Amino acid sequence: MEKVVSGIRPTGNLHLGNYFGAVKSFVKMQDDYDCMFFIADWHSLTTHPKPGDIQQSARTILAEYLACGIDPKKAPIYVQSDVRETIELYLYLNMNMYLGELERVTTFKEKARKQPDNVNAGLLTYPTLMAADILQHRAAKVPVGKDQEQNMEMARKCARRFNNIYGVEFFPEPQNFYFSDKAIKIPGLDGSGKMGKSEGNCIYLRDDDKTISKKVMKAVTDEGPKTPNSPRPEVIENLFTFLRIVSDDETYRYFDEKWNDCTLRYGDLKKQIAADLCKVVAPIREQIEYYSANTDLLDRIAREGAEVARASAQATINEVRRIIGFRV
Ligand code: TRP
Repeated sequence: MEKVVSGIRPTGNLHLGNYFGAVKSFVKMQDDYDCMFFIADWHSLTTHPKPGDIQQSARTILAEYLACGIDPKKAPIYVQSDVRETIELYLYLNMNMYLGELERVTTFKEKARKQPDNVNAGLLTYPTLMAADILQHRAAKVPVGKDQEQNMEMARKCARRFNNIYGVEFFPEPQNFYFSDKAIKIPGLDGSGKMGKSEGNCIYLRDDDKTISKKVMKAVTDEGPKTPNSPRPEVIENLFTFLRIVSDDETYRYFDEKWNDCTLRYGDLKKQIAADLCKVVAPIREQIEYYSANTDLLDRIAREGAEVARASAQATINEVRRIIGFRV
């Protein structure tokens, strides 16, 4: 089975956009590939040198991914900083990466602009650390968003360069695996095209029924349908997108007809969406609560994940040391 590795940024709680995007893809992939997932807590130091309770943030993410259906038996999930082998590979790879090419990475330029007082070497070598995350498992595929294209190109460069310098065919070039093409895009309910943290319009998997209903009922609409069978403006289509995702076909058809014959009342539509959405989120929320209350269990899952990852990384590092000429 092909090896798949992906890193998760520990940036707060999962929302519906994450769930129907990356998370559901991960859950599906664990059946078809030899998957490993990790929480990228080292990477977070590049922008947050004093990260606060870093272990608790990792537990939060872990609890949420498990609640969504990541099965550690199929896909070990670990915390990046638990597998120190990565750093050794990071060092070797950095020896072959050049200042100029690292400076040209757009995410670096963006972050350097955002934090001009903290343009640290870790930020510059972020792509190398990411390459080490991937190459230490000699992964074939990496599920990432479109924003990671350049980092993935750098990871392939790292692999290629190592192979060329030492005259080996050791590292496979990891391929991007875009889930965004297949994933459902969740719109914002505030009139913006997309649900996202920076948009401040998220429905979180941790939200209770009341919070979810409130957020749905506040969704932006217009004065209502006026001409039969007219196309729907974006904010209304956004509501129908929700309906399509969380409700059954019959319900969708019912409201679609109401729109077409201009008898649709948005209040009814929102109530339906809220009720059906709560049905999707409630069992996940309960699982999040279950895992969050079981710190020991979470820590055990992370420890076991790290053991699998460490074994995989050690095998790679030993081979790399041998190739370079170090004692193994
Ligand atoms: N850079 C990725 C992001 O911002 C996170 C990440 C770190 C990652 N290491 C990785 C993703 C390795 C895939 C593989 O989302």
